[in-house]
Amino acid sequence: MTMHVFGLIGNPVGHSLSPPMHEAAYDELGMDARYVTFEPDPDDVEAAVEGAAALGIDGLNVTIPFKRDVLGLVDPDDLAARIGAVNTVDFSTSPPRGYNTDAAGVRRAFDHHDVSLAGTDAVVVGAGGAARAVAFTLADACDTVHVANRTAAKAESLAADVREDAAATVTGGGLDTLPDRVPEADILVNATSVGMEEDETPVRTALLHGDLAVLDAVYAPVQTRLLRDAASVGATTIDGAWMLLFQGVVAFEHWTGRDAPVDAMNAALRAHL
Ligand code: ATR
Repeated sequence: MTMHVFGLIGNPVGHSLSPPMHEAAYDELGMDARYVTFEPDPDDVEAAVEGAAALGIDGLNVTIPFKRDVLGLVDPDDLAARIGAVNTVDFSTSPPRGYNTDAAGVRRAFDHHDVSLAGTDAVVVGAGGAARAVAFTLADACDTVHVANRTAAKAESLAADVREDAAATVTGGGLDTLPDRVPEADILVNATSVGMEEDETPVRTALLHGDLAVLDAVYAPVQTRLLRDAASVGATTIDGAWMLLFQGVVAFEHWTGRDAPVDAMNAALRAHL
């Protein structure tokens, strides 16, 4: 097959920004390729992955609710296995290889903004799926990672998982731990859904400071209240579209072995936000 086919499986996938972002890369590089969304029934995920391999599909992104299921259907790399979730499958090998580019993309988003994670103290707010990818990534690079969540027990459980083979010191607690942690931190990531529905922030402005780099995983809206507050105190801000972009960039690079045309993908993504 000369034409390459990539895609996304999830349920629902109707709102996905991945098709325009990836097709912008194919256009930019003159690749004969398409990016298609698929919405299998949740019971059919195994058949979907096997079918994709049988049809010669080159690569799939995986989103909610399939990231955990797909882990068991592919050969995951170390990071994806530790996180327990796969969001990118490369079908060029048998069994197909699984990656977690949500995690790798976080690292690239900081790199792109010249924020070095080495030796830093990081705070992650949230303990769901997004926070899990963020916390595992930061724990490979930062000195300390503190997970703070509305439900403290979930933060403590995530911290225990991350701590297992991380060099960083990893702790967890409730949102009441933020006043102790954020003023001393170098890195702050919002991985909750706060800021999406209403113009609210999970971290009050008085805790923020100019030496912070703040990444918000929320990308709709792009300019969340947290990022506006962070900018007002002189912090470095990284919006959620960068995280979305770099998970796609890293997936593209796994699938094609080529450097992704980051600027073209970024322009296409932001045009659709
Ligand atoms: P995702 O997969 O996107 O991470 P999720 O697993 O549903 O989504 O996680 C949502 C996160 O946002 C959780 O950390 C949740 O906190 P709880 O574990 O206490 O539920 C957090 N969250 C959602 N609404 C929140 C709110 N109003 N205030 C604080 N945290 C909130």
